[in-house]
Amino acid sequence: MKGTLTDSYGRTLDYLRLSVTDRCNFRCYYCMPEEGIDFVQRKDLLSYEELDYLCTLFLSLGVKKIRITGGEPFVRKGIMGFLTQLSRHPELKEITLTSNGSISESQIKQLATLGIRKINISLDSLDRQRFYEITRRDRFEEVFACILNLVKEGFLVKLNCVVDGKKNTQDILPFVELTKNQPISVRFLEEMPFNGTGKFVPPTWNHIALFDYIKQHYPDLLKVPDEKNSTSVNYRVPGYAGSFGIIPAFSRTFCGTCNRIRLSATGELRTCLYGPPVANLRDVLRSGVSEGALIEEIVRAVARKEKDGFEAEAQSKKIPKKSMSFLGG
Ligand code: GTP
Ligand code: 5AD
Ligand code: SF4
Repeated sequence: MKGTLTDSYGRTLDYLRLSVTDRCNFRCYYCMPEEGIDFVQRKDLLSYEELDYLCTLFLSLGVKKIRITGGEPFVRKGIMGFLTQLSRHPELKEITLTSNGSISESQIKQLATLGIRKINISLDSLDRQRFYEITRRDRFEEVFACILNLVKEGFLVKLNCVVDGKKNTQDILPFVELTKNQPISVRFLEEMPFNGTGKFVPPTWNHIALFDYIKQHYPDLLKVPDEKNSTSVNYRVPGYAGSFGIIPAFSRTFCGTCNRIRLSATGELRTCLYGPPVANLRDVLRSGVSEGALIEEIVRAVARKEKDGFEAEAQSKKIPKKSMSFLGG
């Protein structure tokens, strides 16, 4: 069976972000409180078998790219087996990963053999103490070693750095300097209201402030072409091996070209990070309906995706008590 997923704005949705767990070994302040969140019970998680089956359906509906997210994907047992299974789908053009850098050397080698080429790593500081204050874990050295290892093994590495005016603006220029000799892309992100507490102060360092600040220090910046459906606007300092980008994750200037759908580890399907679930595929799957009915549910649910996502929710003063670790980023 072949098809495509199309939304109310006529866009083809061919990029699935699949969260395999809501658990994480870090405690980044912008994602969850120190004590963690109410983590999902094992029985409520989609099993790897269920995840692979749902991926088969999404692939039959024209999905071309799957990004595996968490929580931290590498804390879930059996993740390498699942990735191996996923890599066997011939229709899947690209598997990518977002991790906090908890990937062992042997896993990195294995990922390369599966044909995975692109990995995004969260890193908010190049300073050990600030890294600790942000993640509440003293693991800067090992994350940085993981990044260098990925580069050495030939992966295309992007770093995600959430910028907070009170915590890590000292890191912005060193991150740009990191791209002098490293062929990586550093992306500076606006913080989003998904820290699991229901409290949030909008970022003072928005995408415009970030750009102006960097431009002041590097007046001859070059624009780099952005990938299709990119969330980031990208630049390069002339002569530098890598590049950097800015992601207006809170200002959301990129919603119009959004081709993403998201599946949480509990089967919640979302067409916008800021919006409510449009279906629970775990419940539909476990209710024993036919494959045709399940496909219909997916097509129907994503068809309602709107041009600018859930603007009303995003603008409302009511901050959801959601953690990015559950939403999957
Ligand atoms: P590629 O485009 O596949 O390279 O992925 P990406 O840059 O979206 O991936 P990544 O998981 O590294 O996400 C980077 C940041 O962009 C994260 O903070 C995401 O939550 C944010 N982001 C990704 N998609 C969306 C979205 O639809 N809306 C918003 N507001 N932010 C998003
Ligand atoms: N705001 C912005 N980005 C966030 N991330 C996690 N929580 C937030 C938040 N509240 C980022 C992480 C990770 C990516 C998937 O999402 O840095 O790299
Ligand atoms: Fe873990 Fe990523 Fe959340 Fe940090 S942002 S606590 S690394 S899931």
